[in-house]
Amino acid sequence: MCGIVGYTGKQSVVPVLLEGLHQLEYRGYDSSGIALQRGDRLAVHRRCGKIRVLESDLPKRLAGKTGIGHTRWATHGEPTDDNAHPHSSEDGRFAVVHNGIIENSDPLRARLVEHGVHFASETDSEVLAHLVAAADAPTLLERVRLALAEVEGTYGIAVIDAESPGEIVVARNGSPVVIGIGDKEMLVASDVGALVRHTQQVVYLDDGEIAELTPSAYRVITLDAAPATKQSASIDWSEETYARGEYSHYTLKEIHEQPESIRRTLRGRLDRRFQAAHLGGLNLDARELLNFRRIKVLGCGSAYISGCIGARIVEQLSRVPCDAEPAAEFRYRNPVIEADTLYLAVSQSGETFDTLSAVQEIKRKGGRVLGVVNAVGSSIARACDGGVYLHAGPEIAVVSTKTFTSTIAALALLALHVGRMRDVSVAQGKRLLDALDALPDAIQTILDAEDEYRQMAKKYAHYDNAYFIGRNLGFGVAMEGALKLKEVSYLHAEAYPASELKHGPLALVSPEVPTVFVLPDDDLLDKNLSSIEQVRSRKGPVLAVTHPLGENAERLAALADDVLEVPKLHEYLDPILMLIPLQFLAYFIALERGCDVDQPRNLAKSVTVE
Ligand code: AGP
Repeated sequence: MCGIVGYTGKQSVVPVLLEGLHQLEYRGYDSSGIALQRGDRLAVHRRCGKIRVLESDLPKRLAGKTGIGHTRWATHGEPTDDNAHPHSSEDGRFAVVHNGIIENSDPLRARLVEHGVHFASETDSEVLAHLVAAADAPTLLERVRLALAEVEGTYGIAVIDAESPGEIVVARNGSPVVIGIGDKEMLVASDVGALVRHTQQVVYLDDGEIAELTPSAYRVITLDAAPATKQSASIDWSEETYARGEYSHYTLKEIHEQPESIRRTLRGRLDRRFQAAHLGGLNLDARELLNFRRIKVLGCGSAYISGCIGARIVEQLSRVPCDAEPAAEFRYRNPVIEADTLYLAVSQSGETFDTLSAVQEIKRKGGRVLGVVNAVGSSIARACDGGVYLHAGPEIAVVSTKTFTSTIAALALLALHVGRMRDVSVAQGKRLLDALDALPDAIQTILDAEDEYRQMAKKYAHYDNAYFIGRNLGFGVAMEGALKLKEVSYLHAEAYPASELKHGPLALVSPEVPTVFVLPDDDLLDKNLSSIEQVRSRKGPVLAVTHPLGENAERLAALADDVLEVPKLHEYLDPILMLIPLQFLAYFIALERGCDVDQPRNLAKSVTVE
């Protein structure tokens, strides 16, 4: 995905645009650019590379009060200066920044070329600039509306016109656009992180809406020119929330935020009167909830993996069959949507295209879907019939950490909610609530051992391959540990259920391939220890993440090269505790390997394209 930003008002626009782009850089960072009104023309500056490359290239004095900016995650066309946004019309009068994909850009490009238009880039987005220029209309708003009437695909755009001083026109279809309402100034961005420094009042555009911004007002219409009435909302988070503070990386900051983010996820939701969970946003009464015979969890990447862990907790507690599936796989298999199945869509950004499309597929077929989402007011949250907000706070690092653990906690609450309507007893409910209460402090004890993980990382940073192995809930932890390590350190890591090792993967075990074992002190401990023996007998190095094992500790010490212990809290919450050392390992191994932890190559925070 990409990030768009815009400003019109009393301030000098360039610093506002650049600061906003830095806040959006996690959305995509292979090139960036700005365009601003300067007298009766537009000044456009674009550079391949990080935003700091653009900054160093800008003229020292660049006065202007209205402008737009873009930070890119390339989908069509390599990251180059020419492919960077903003894209301009041939006469330089119009400039456009775009987040999304124009599905019919090829025929539109062909038609424009036939009419004599010369394209300067390989991107799909550039057609927008030429369509706006070709539109015959008296206002920029109307030009953009006519242009978008020809477009198929997703977009979050901002457009400026050298002949419309102080105006920005923005539009949304499938990619987020948020308007920031200031005092004699108006802003626009892909997400609120780029706005909080200037305002707490925002308006979320909906799909098919177009807005005209001037310093003193905004006006919203639909694609068919009908006026649209919008309610403004206030942002929960301050500028400090988005600051990195004393941490060297957002990834490290967000790992350390987990006691507090879990507290926020749990706040007001532990129902001590009935030893149950209080979830106010499901929009489902008890009888409706009781009628569901199956629950399916959908998501992508870490959201999918957290769904895998959460699904087991839901099934084990509520005794309702529950499983998880990658959202895109679900969407493309023409799924049977059943009235007695409840669907859960997990997404921290609430903007992941594949997950949003799966939600729309379910709704199209009459299904019921709840969101487990972090970003309030996001597309997925608003497409769902209700849900559970994580309230984990903005997650800026590309890799999911605090939102992952908050999702597990939220799904445990949902499992308890349904479970206490069925067979879960008061005592069982109390035991889980007590554990949830104790969870933040248990996490803190692990965070306090950060240096142990930093040292351990030095020992494993030189490998190029690794296995992550677990059983049952431990397999989900192994999956997430492997994904974290891949994402930030570019080390090839695979996760397998321990039982699968002997059916093939064992062939790769050697002194050059370490295996990380997720080893809870549960009824599968003996089986896991014998799996470790299988690896050791092939001279594979073993790192075990485990609980204090009492008399089994010696047996493990004889098998594993390294052991990382975490407190044992509750079988359904232990996956959270066992994951945190793996988050640290991925982070510190990435540092050892000189990787850009917060903005890993080829990735973006949320993938709002297919
Ligand atoms: C996880 O570390 C990655 N950032 C990625 O797999 C992510 O979880 C996935 O893209 C889903 O994002 P979402 O939670 O915003 O939907």
